[in-house]
Amino acid sequence: MADSQRHPFLHGLSKHRGAPPTVVVIFGASGDLTARKLIPAVYNLGVDNLLPTDFHLVGYGRKEIPDDEFRGLAKDAIKEFSRRELDDESWGRISANTTYVAGGYDDLQAFERLASHIDKIEQQVGRDVQSLFYISTPPSVFAPILKNLGAAGLAGKHLGKPHHAKVIIEKPFGRNLESARELNGTIRSVFEEHQVYRIDHYLGKETVQDLLVQRFSNAIFEPLWNRNFIDSVQITVSEEVGVGSRGGYYEQSGALRDMIQNHTMQLLALTAMEPPVSLDAESIRDEKVKLLKAIQPLNIGPNGDVARAQYSAGMIGGKEVRGYLEEEGIAADSKTETYAALRMSINNWRWQGVPFYLRSGKRMARRVSEIAINFKRPPGTLFADSEKFNLANNTLAFQIQPDEGLSMILNAKIPGLETRTQPVKMNFRYATTFGSNTPEAYERLVLDAMIGDGTLFIRGDEAETSWKLCTPILDAWSEAGREVMESYPAGSWGPAGSDALLAKNNQLWRQP
Ligand code: BG6
Repeated sequence: MADSQRHPFLHGLSKHRGAPPTVVVIFGASGDLTARKLIPAVYNLGVDNLLPTDFHLVGYGRKEIPDDEFRGLAKDAIKEFSRRELDDESWGRISANTTYVAGGYDDLQAFERLASHIDKIEQQVGRDVQSLFYISTPPSVFAPILKNLGAAGLAGKHLGKPHHAKVIIEKPFGRNLESARELNGTIRSVFEEHQVYRIDHYLGKETVQDLLVQRFSNAIFEPLWNRNFIDSVQITVSEEVGVGSRGGYYEQSGALRDMIQNHTMQLLALTAMEPPVSLDAESIRDEKVKLLKAIQPLNIGPNGDVARAQYSAGMIGGKEVRGYLEEEGIAADSKTETYAALRMSINNWRWQGVPFYLRSGKRMARRVSEIAINFKRPPGTLFADSEKFNLANNTLAFQIQPDEGLSMILNAKIPGLETRTQPVKMNFRYATTFGSNTPEAYERLVLDAMIGDGTLFIRGDEAETSWKLCTPILDAWSEAGREVMESYPAGSWGPAGSDALLAKNNQLWRQP
């Protein structure tokens, strides 16, 4: 395809972003994430000619699956979940180099078989091939996989050369500070930090990356980006879906572990961090860690900085849905929160005194992820008559999904023979400007890991700093049991306790 005919997102991309010969090994090859996200991501990279010429895909799992059958499963996954329809020629190129290795995760001999499988691929290619191990299994087997990668010599393969091995680790990265530290310890006993790619798929979303571009490539924002002009910041990641068939996982997790500790904290860090000295991975991650370290410990007591709740029965999209406690696989006295909200203060020069509100929940009124920056009001002398002048605070909202874009609330004069005002919205929409076929987050992340660019991945100390803030909340909630668990009807915007977090500062949650 001629470069000029390609999607604007792809202009010039392959010229700068070539990956070396690679074998991607997916652990957890018959799992849900592999079918829904990973195989479609690899396929779409193939369609865009972004895979290296010598690209091999190896599925690894406990189940015995013949190569042909694994290729068939992968093809079905593309048909069902890919953003683009299956094109036989593109799939044919990947499928020809797709194989499967069966083995346990704690079975060293199976890892040695995997090592000789990779050696054979390398002989076939005729030069060094980098291995990219994608650990997409339940967290209980992260450690045995990592240790066996080390013991079978796979972690150290080509170390010191450009084609060294790399590992991608799916979330959840630990379930509290202690387990995250332990996991980091296991990783470091086998891999060097520069080989490790901890996933938070929110960082792969176009609009999340756009946040840095908007903040630092436009001169108008930076002078206002501080406590003198900003009144508060609200970060919302709400979903309409409930726990569905993931009850078993979710019971062990909850909104704080599943969404707040990772996705919303990442959004917060990118919104509030200082300008990095460059766009390289370490400079950006250094700034994020610095910011996370400046967040004050939260007041977890009654009327403090946190709220949690479970959804009860309600209506979503005109249909009745059941409450969390009635969902499949959920204990009748479950203590797991499906909604969490936090009020945070950042104790640094830029942000002191500006509240940052974070909320995330399942079965909420709308699916929306956004960052809303609320600016202070100008002095009210000119437009003080509230009957004539309907004024709103200026709000800059980064819409991460859906309707990806950026909007700004301004006050404008209503046309007519007297001066009356009304808030109006200025909008930039990705789909309108660039078309709607945006790459999925996992495409960008898999490509970046193949190239060796860790910018959009979490560094070990970053994960720990975020856990340091969240772990005391989890401990307090676990001690309190169901006593301080509120509820909210499915299809609503969450519990009263969450509104109370803002009411203390005379603020309201925005209705996105
Ligand atoms: C995952 C969570 O990390 O993110 C899920 O485990 C959640 O519970 C999902 O549904 C949301 O991702 P997205 O990209 O649909 O906003």
